[in-house]
Amino acid sequence: MRKIDAIIRPDKLNEIKAGLAKLGVRGMTVSEVFGCGLQKGHIGVYRGKEYSINLLPKVKIEVVVPAGIAGDVVKVIAEYGRTGNIGDGKIFIYPVSQVYRIRTGESGSAAL
Ligand SMILES: Nc1ncnc2c1ncn2[C@@H]1O[C@H](COP(=O)(O)OP(=O)(O)OP(=O)(O)O)[C@@H](O)[C@H]1O
Ligand SMILES: [Mg+2]
Repeated sequence: MRKIDAIIRPDKLNEIKAGLAKLGVRGMTVSEVFGCGLQKGHIGVYRGKEYSINLLPKVKIEVVVPAGIAGDVVKVIAEYGRTGNIGDGKIFIYPVSQVYRIRTGESGSAAL
């Protein structure tokens, strides 16, 4: 199993969600977050304050999926999330050692 954290543009959430649903993704966690990347959160004209960090509103999607579909999940997020402009976001992938569904006691992929 893999955990995929994607920081995306808030206005791309709906398209990405629809794409993930088509892949058969079940659970996910979505949060409103603030962040910055290479440009330290600055967009457009830049006046002084070279070291200041500005935090822009983004959306974080956290989804744990069977390893076999992790590549497709990344593809969907990258395709539907892309505008080609700075700030499109980033995808982080982690191994997941175990998952339990609290209600039934199921574990592993069956618990996703
Ligand atoms: N190294 C990082 N660690 C944690 N979060 C990050 C990191 N880089 C980016 N993020 C998150 O992703 C969001 C979008 O990043 P962004 O797309 O601006 O990345 P970038 O590396 O600056 O690429 P680009 O040049 O395309 O803007 C940030 O607002 C932040 O929330
Ligand atoms: Mg950036």
